[in-house]
Amino acid sequence: MKAMAVFPATKEVKVIDQPEPSIVSPTDVKLRMLDIGVCGTDKEIVAFQYGTPPAGSPYLVIGHESLGEVIQIGSGVQSLKTGDLVVTMVRRPCGHSGCVACQAGRQDFCYTGDFTERGIKGRHGFMTEFVVDDEKYMNHVPDDLRDCAVLVEPLTIAEKAIEQLWPIQSRLPWACPTEPGKPAQFCHKALVLGAGPVGLLGAMALLVQGFQVYVYSKNPVPSVQSDLCKAIGATFFPAQSTTIDDVARSMGNIDLVYEAVGASGLAFDVMRVLGTNGVFIFTGVPGRKGPIEVDTDLLMRDSVLKNQIVYGTVNAGKQAFEDAIRDISEFRRRWPDAVQKLITGRFKIDQAIDLLTGKAEGIKNVVTFR
Ligand code: BGC
Ligand code: ZN
Repeated sequence: MKAMAVFPATKEVKVIDQPEPSIVSPTDVKLRMLDIGVCGTDKEIVAFQYGTPPAGSPYLVIGHESLGEVIQIGSGVQSLKTGDLVVTMVRRPCGHSGCVACQAGRQDFCYTGDFTERGIKGRHGFMTEFVVDDEKYMNHVPDDLRDCAVLVEPLTIAEKAIEQLWPIQSRLPWACPTEPGKPAQFCHKALVLGAGPVGLLGAMALLVQGFQVYVYSKNPVPSVQSDLCKAIGATFFPAQSTTIDDVARSMGNIDLVYEAVGASGLAFDVMRVLGTNGVFIFTGVPGRKGPIEVDTDLLMRDSVLKNQIVYGTVNAGKQAFEDAIRDISEFRRRWPDAVQKLITGRFKIDQAIDLLTGKAEGIKNVVTFR
């Protein structure tokens, strides 16, 4: 079967032929892959800045955003049947008995760093025709989400962020939505940095949570990104003609910043304008470009005097996948066209090199075996 592989030692990226995986344990499930999303992490792996092949393998099969269809199940599988659609989780536990996070099934909070990630670190990924994994890492997706469920994994980033946000903001008893989907009273202005897939999916998720959402992006007006923001009811600020101070002036108290660009200069500049009782969430992983100047006295003063909280979040647990599947349905109900427009195009695996190495257009490009 075909698979997209990177060979770090020889710096090659190519479609390879490898044996089809088969079911080995009773709880294994075999999938025929339908869609595999291409993301920034894949591009970094293909540029040899990130990514680790499995022990003993000269190559790593990439791909971690996926949608597959069950074609075979092991004798002990309880939760899935042939024909079901599935989004498979990315991270696997580190296996150390002392890692309470992994032992609790929350490898997204692994302490040791010895976790593995399919398509990223120590395990082959999903950009291939067939995949076998344990049912416990698979999340069942309703059939009617067949054309957009490849967006579930990138949405889990926002879902895990939100999962942590509400317990934190429950310190402000007036700020939590009393009813899901109803506006949170005094804690309702979110600024999203970046209009890539993680940013736009985050903007949608925050809208569903009842926030007023503003998106700051390097894309111009008009663009697919600015049109999309308009369609979902988010205010779009083009970086070309809007400074961070302009954003702060027009928003008022910024209750939440959801960073989805991976540029530390911009992020710390925005931290300056985070509001009273505000929360700043990092999701981007910046490349190391050397130190920059930041007014640390100001940031520290504000952190204290304005009760601010800053946190980073990576990967996602089972609950975040379930929340993402539920939210994708909700997004589709609210904004059917916008959800379609998030997926720019579907390409055969032989065209994937261009998506991975070139400056691909649009928002989310997908490799398909449909
Ligand atoms: C993936 C996460 C992963 C992270 C770090 C992201 O692109 O969505 O699942 O944990 O990269 O490797
Ligand atoms: Zn661990």
